[in-house]
Amino acid sequence: MLRPEYHITPKSGWINDPNGFAWFNGQYHLYAQHYPFDTKWGPMHWLHFTSSDLVHWRDQGICLKPDQPYDREFGCFSGSSIEKDGTLYVFYTGCSHGKQTQCLATSKDGHSFVKHPENPILDENDLPKGYQVRDFRDPKVFEKDGRYYLLLASRHEQGYSSILLYASDDLVHFSFVGVVKSFHNCLEGGMVECPDLLFDEGKCALLYSLQHPQNEGEKFQNAFPVAYVVGRLDLQSGRFIEEGPERELDRGYDCYATQAIKREGKNYIVTWQSSWDASHPSAAEGYAGQLSLVKEARIEGDRIKLRFLKECNPSRFSVSLLGTSGLMRIGNVEIALCKERNRITLTRKKIDGSGALVGTESRYFALSNVERLDVEYVYDHSCVELSFQGGEAFASLIDDAYEGEAEATLLEGLEWA
Ligand code: FRU
Repeated sequence: MLRPEYHITPKSGWINDPNGFAWFNGQYHLYAQHYPFDTKWGPMHWLHFTSSDLVHWRDQGICLKPDQPYDREFGCFSGSSIEKDGTLYVFYTGCSHGKQTQCLATSKDGHSFVKHPENPILDENDLPKGYQVRDFRDPKVFEKDGRYYLLLASRHEQGYSSILLYASDDLVHFSFVGVVKSFHNCLEGGMVECPDLLFDEGKCALLYSLQHPQNEGEKFQNAFPVAYVVGRLDLQSGRFIEEGPERELDRGYDCYATQAIKREGKNYIVTWQSSWDASHPSAAEGYAGQLSLVKEARIEGDRIKLRFLKECNPSRFSVSLLGTSGLMRIGNVEIALCKERNRITLTRKKIDGSGALVGTESRYFALSNVERLDVEYVYDHSCVELSFQGGEAFASLIDDAYEGEAEATLLEGLEWA
C-alpha cells in the first residue's frame, strides 16, 4: 500500500497545491487543488481538510466547485485566505475562456462558501502594461498595519514573469502597487507560480515556485522547485529588497507550491509533495498527489529552516565519517556523504506510472560540514521527509518503491555518533 498515514491524500482522484491555509473558528483549515473524477489533473475544485494539531487531518469534502462563467472551464485555481470580523475571505484564481482572474469567496464556518457578486475582483483591466491575463494567478493575501495585500504571479508578453503586489482597504477592491520581483530564468515557456510570504522576527522571506528554471549546478536540479529570498518588502513601491541569496526550500525531489501561515508567533508551511513531472503509481490505489507534513518555518540569517512538529515523532540519529566518504540507507533511499565537498547525495529508485522499476535518480547538495551528520526523518509509507544538521537542509521525496522497511542502515565508511 502506497497511501501515507499522516500526509494528506484525497480519498480518490487528484490533488495538487495546498490552498487557503488558515486558523479559523478554533481549528486549522487547509484546502487543496482537487479533481474528483480522475487521478489526473482536471477542472479544479477545492478539497477541504481540518485539524486541531496540524498533524491529524480530517477530509471535509469539496467546498469550491467550478460553477461560474469566470471559473467554469478550468476551475478554481490556487489561492489563500484571511480572517476578518469572523468571516474567512478566500482568494482564488478563476480560470475560464483563456483568462485567469482573481475571485473572492467568503465563509462563516470554513466549510460552505459564497462567491462574491463582484467577481472577478481583478481582471485584465487591473494588470500593468504588458502582463497577460492568460497567466495571472495564485493570490496570496496578507495584512500589514491595517491594509490588505495580494501577491500575484503573472507572465509578461516578453516572456519573463513577475510577482505583482496589490493593496486594498476592504478586502474586495484592490489596486496595483508595483512589481515585487521578476524572473528571467524559466525555460520552456515556464513562469513563476504560487508566491508566498513568511514574516519572522522583523525579517521577511519571499517564496515562490518556478517552472523549468535554468539549472545552475546544484541549484535547480528539479524542473519544479520552490525557491526563496530573505529580505524586506517595501509596501509603498511593492519592491522586494533582497538581503541574501536565492535558495531552494527543499533539496529532495517532490516539493512545490507552498502555503505558509503564522499563528501565535509561529510560522507553519505546507507544500504539494509532488511535481508536474511526477509519475503517480498510486493511481492504481485510486488517488494521485499528496501534501507534505506541516513544518514549523523559521528565518535564521538568510535561510529558512524547517522543523518537524514534535507530534510527528521524527526518528533521529547522528553518524560520523570514518574516512573521506560514507554510505547509508533509509528505507529505499541511499545517502552518500563526501567529506572533500561536504556534499550529500540522495539516490532513490525510480518508478514509472505503472509501478515498474526503471532505474535510479540522484540529487546532491552541500552542507557546511558532513563529518558528523545529524539526521531527523519521518517515513510515512511511500514518502520520506529528511532534515539534515538541524534544518540546514531539508529534503522531501516520494518513495514509490517502498517495501515496508524504513530503518536507517549504515553501509560503508560511517559509524553511529
Ligand atoms: C501550481 C499551479 C498553480 C495553479 C494550479 C492549478 O502547481 O500550476 O499556478 O493555480 O497549479 O491547479
